[in-house]
Amino acid sequence: MNMYPIGKSIQEIKTPALLLDLDKFHWNIKKMFKFAKQVGINVRPHAKTFKSAAICNKLLEAGAIGLMTQKLGEAEALLNAGVLYGDKNILISQELADPGKIERLVGMNVAMGESKVLVAIDNVAAAELLSKAALRWGIKQHVIIELSHGRCGTIPGKPSVDLAKKIVNLKGLKFRGLYGYEGPVNMKLALQRNKLTVDTANMIRDVGIDVEIVSAGSTGTYTVTGTYSGITEIEPGSFVFGVGPEGSGYGFKTVNDVHFKSSLSVLTQIIGCNFSDRVITDAGLKVMSSGFGSPLVRMDGEIIDCDGVSLSEEHGTVLFKERSVLRKKLKWGQKLEFIPSHCCTCVSLHDNLFVIKDKKLAAVWPITTRGKYY
Ligand SMILES: Cc1ncc(COP(=O)(O)O)c(C=O)c1O
Repeated sequence: MNMYPIGKSIQEIKTPALLLDLDKFHWNIKKMFKFAKQVGINVRPHAKTFKSAAICNKLLEAGAIGLMTQKLGEAEALLNAGVLYGDKNILISQELADPGKIERLVGMNVAMGESKVLVAIDNVAAAELLSKAALRWGIKQHVIIELSHGRCGTIPGKPSVDLAKKIVNLKGLKFRGLYGYEGPVNMKLALQRNKLTVDTANMIRDVGIDVEIVSAGSTGTYTVTGTYSGITEIEPGSFVFGVGPEGSGYGFKTVNDVHFKSSLSVLTQIIGCNFSDRVITDAGLKVMSSGFGSPLVRMDGEIIDCDGVSLSEEHGTVLFKERSVLRKKLKWGQKLEFIPSHCCTCVSLHDNLFVIKDKKLAAVWPITTRGKYY
């Protein structure tokens, strides 16, 4: 890590670089876990957003009951980085359809302990394959059903109950519950979806099957889902970065009026300064997805009022009106920050997160699950 200017000013960090404002990041974590404590809801942060073992550790320390990952490869990388201690576990929210991946998952539980990594399933074929693999090793694979609110998953109601019945009859599986991620939707729709999730959990209980986990929720819906009776845990991810007015990490439009602080940015340098209507920087699409619109631009800690940012592969062009006073203030070699419109797809493009405290580089956290999509 000696190659990084630890203890020095942000200005000395080579660009483009992904920055994390430590104070704002801590503020976000504190807010989420204070809420969770107040209303008595468990938090299982979704690590597909931040992908960093260091952040996982911070969240587990703050009280997270475990973690969620989208991919098997992410769960493996985090486990191998040592994030799981005590009774904490990882829940893989994306279904596996490949027999080789099923072997890897079960093998990982054989090595790490039976209930360390749970997986979501939504069909009988997957249940049977998982059960067979687990029986061969003499363990039980712990599973939850994903209830569909528009992506993978089972249809709420009877089809989900039927799958739960099938699961409890398979000797290699242990049924733990279900999750019904409602998406970053408005409160009304979140409530409707939560009702479907909780009603289905109760229908499964009505046929005599224990449902321990009922998971749902995102940063944009954490208040409504976190207080919805029958939901046992929420699974928000992007609150740690708080991108956008709600901290939902998906664009800059507000949906539900929740708020987290913007802690994530991409440090960039002005490399082209010859035009009165623009400056050109060294951060483009290869370090920042345009996901939900062009990034915001920050100079000396303040968002500047430019005419937008045009991103190409390796360049980020900040646009201004002709003869803009603001444009005149910008100089060749100067550093700016872009606030990405989609935090998750931005983080996934980086090797490291540069942790900033009092405008100085405090630490460099690797993006542990970078590229672990398999
Ligand atoms: C299954 C699941 N749960 C939780 C989340 C977390 O959402 P957010 O990052 O808005 O908190 C996501 C995000 O896509 C998700 O796919």
